Amino acid sequence: MASAETAGIERGPVPTNGAPRKPRILLAASGSVAAIKFGNLCHCFSEWAEVKAVATRASLHFIDRASLPRDVVLYTDEDEWSSWNKLGDSVLHIELRRWADIMIIAPLSANTLGKIAGGLCDNLLTCIVRAWDYAKPLFVAPAMNTLMWNNPFTERHLMTVDELGISLIPPVSKRLACGDYGNGAMAEPSHIYSTVRLFYESRVQAGSSNF
Ligand SMILES: Cc1cc2nc3c(=O)[nH]c(=O)nc-3n(C[C@H](O)[C@H](O)[C@H](O)COP(=O)(O)O)c2cc1C
Repeated sequence: MASAETAGIERGPVPTNGAPRKPRILLAASGSVAAIKFGNLCHCFSEWAEVKAVATRASLHFIDRASLPRDVVLYTDEDEWSSWNKLGDSVLHIELRRWADIMIIAPLSANTLGKIAGGLCDNLLTCIVRAWDYAKPLFVAPAMNTLMWNNPFTERHLMTVDELGISLIPPVSKRLACGDYGNGAMAEPSHIYSTVRLFYESRVQAGSSNF
């Protein structure tokens, strides 16, 4: 069975030739229909960064694995459990959290938003978030039906995740996959990419020791 190491997760400082290493970006998808764009999102980041991906069980209904870049490993709940057998084995959600410089959950479903805000951690994605080191950035790009977005729970949950230090990439208004028109569509992958890259580069310019 694959351990976190054999699954391709290396830890520790990397540069061997003096060149700065690429940023390590952990992309995660939850079960919004916008997860059909997850492959596109991975491609946006993989030119610039080392990318690993995480998917919830529901998001797998929307993700075409063949659309992911070939060098991007997609981790699921099954990997979390198949890579652990006994005390001393590495724990995938901890290894991924250690590996990543930045995590981005895109799309963020109403369900996963609620779970994060409530501190729940019943799958690989939410375990990574519950174990997250908030010295490192974590972005979310919600995507849901307009009435889900306008539901009072959404504002409550967003306030809670804001207090945790999670950054919001807001949804946009357009005709949604369900046919309704309104706010709740995930920001475009290119916008998510440019937001995160600008953030990263401004931190590096400011001399952040976290990267
Ligand atoms: C076809 C379909 C489309 C869905 N689209 C969305 C969506 O856009 N946003 C959302 O928050 N939930 C959506 N859902 C509901 C989620 O998939 C459901 O709440 C699921 O439990 C989310 O699980 P996860 O948060 O663990 O990924 C959709 C469900 C179906 C069947």
